[in-house]
Amino acid sequence: MIIGAPTETVEGEKRVALTPQSALALKKLGYDTVVQAGAGESAQFTDDAYREAGVEVLPTAADVWAKADVVTKVRPPSPEEVELTRSGQIVISFVYPAQNEELLESLKAKGVTALAMDMVPRISRAQKMDALSSMANIAGYRGVIEAGNNFGRFFTGQITAAGKVPPAKVLVIGAGVAGLAAIGTATSLGAITYAFDVRPEVAEQIESMGAEFVYLDFAEEQTDGAATGGYAAPSSPEFREAQLKKFRELAPEMDIVISTALIPGRPAPKLWLEDMVAAMKPGSVIIDLAAERGGNCDLTVPDQIVESPNGVKVVGYTDFPSRMATQSSTLYSTNIRHMMDDLTPGKDGTPVVNMEDDVIRGATVTHEGAVTFPPPPPKVQAIAAQKPKEKAKELTPEERRAQEVAAFKAETKSQAMLLGGGGLLLLLVGLVAPASFMSHFIVFVLACFVGFRVIWNVAHSLHTPLMAITNAISSIIILGALMQIGSGSALVVVLAALSILMAGINIFGGFMVTRRMLAMFQRS
Ligand code: NAI
Repeated sequence: MIIGAPTETVEGEKRVALTPQSALALKKLGYDTVVQAGAGESAQFTDDAYREAGVEVLPTAADVWAKADVVTKVRPPSPEEVELTRSGQIVISFVYPAQNEELLESLKAKGVTALAMDMVPRISRAQKMDALSSMANIAGYRGVIEAGNNFGRFFTGQITAAGKVPPAKVLVIGAGVAGLAAIGTATSLGAITYAFDVRPEVAEQIESMGAEFVYLDFAEEQTDGAATGGYAAPSSPEFREAQLKKFRELAPEMDIVISTALIPGRPAPKLWLEDMVAAMKPGSVIIDLAAERGGNCDLTVPDQIVESPNGVKVVGYTDFPSRMATQSSTLYSTNIRHMMDDLTPGKDGTPVVNMEDDVIRGATVTHEGAVTFPPPPPKVQAIAAQKPKEKAKELTPEERRAQEVAAFKAETKSQAMLLGGGGLLLLLVGLVAPASFMSHFIVFVLACFVGFRVIWNVAHSLHTPLMAITNAISSIIILGALMQIGSGSALVVVLAALSILMAGINIFGGFMVTRRMLAMFQRS
């Protein structure tokens, strides 16, 4: 069968749903491909590049719609495009079915099977098809770059002959896919980055990326993404008040705010209010990624940059992925290619819309003359279903002291029991064993005990360096083995040789592992 991609018709849209690279991969699934002339031009994919990849280049969109059995697009099909569809045709694109009821009805009336890339459930197996995440990742990155473009200072702090430059302070609101990408970009540019999210499970991710999680002094059951398909649920008015209070405190200090907070199917929550903008320093920048859904900032105007009376720029672009069209087209077409992979179980160029498959069922919004949206919840739990790390409760000094004393008592008790038990065991062995054995045995037991206590108390993060250092202990084994290897007994020689071999593997293996671990943290 044939997969085709027409040129996007929405003004300013530069992305394309099929790239020469994805066409090659689709060929392996048994599909031929067609593309409208010039469809990839704004994303730097020339018609010749398509031809080289074996894609047929057709002059008009109507030709593509007429020839292709599966049409892939970026933006939801326009009414004119729906007119060009035919019964049994498969259309794969962003559809936003909750907001596009009319579109669903028209696709249903035409007998089209429509798969919405924005409805792919956020489960582990579907990550490779998750186009919303691919696009949000780009938007997060580009948001920071755009902020830098509108900000009059460096991100990183510097000490120069001309004076000291303080680092920029960036606050990221909402640490979903876009938020985490923004955090990664801002920290790598050297900014001091703070991040807030209503889902406590992201605190660890935020901190591991070098940003600081903004904790609220508020005892609410925070929302667990697992129950809501990996997304947050709305928070209570009291929580919101506590959140706004915190933001008010932070506003005067922040140079850049990147807001990405969103709960799917709802307008974006207003979190950065007019008074917070007024409290910011002149020259500060707000990038409101949620602009398309009304924006997180009071002042946001979709697709525009507005400047507040105190000189704060509020950027409301809704086309960040399209501003990096080559990258976003590559990722999006790869997502579609993976979707086609799932739709083609026989790898024979014949798509099968299997409504028993969680991912295909979730994405299919019209099929066989019926609207199949909304889908039932996926049977598999969402990715966010990890248990949050409990935030340490603030303790008073007395409480902390009492806690320490209790812990000390418990530890002393367990140690006394361990020593008592061990002593009794030694006594029992000593009753039957010869004296020469006992002196060696006691040294062995003590060595095990001391070694265990030393290693047990080392933080997990230090285990690899620890391994490398304790591997040096293996060298002692080697020394012992070298002293024994000259002995006359064949058994002793074999055992000594084996000890040298194993201790050698331990030492060199340990150093190699450590080297690889350290290389992961080195910048090339
Ligand atoms: P996501 O669902 O992965 O992340 C949203 C995050 O906001 C979640 O972590 C959620 O817990 C958090 N959140 C919800 N309510 C909150 C609140 N009251 N306070 C703090 N955090 C809250 O979404 P994703 O994929 O990261 O997208 C983020 C935003 O970026 C969306 O609004 C999306 O439409 C937008 N976007 C914008 C683009 C553009 O060009 N402007 C392109 C792609 C995405």
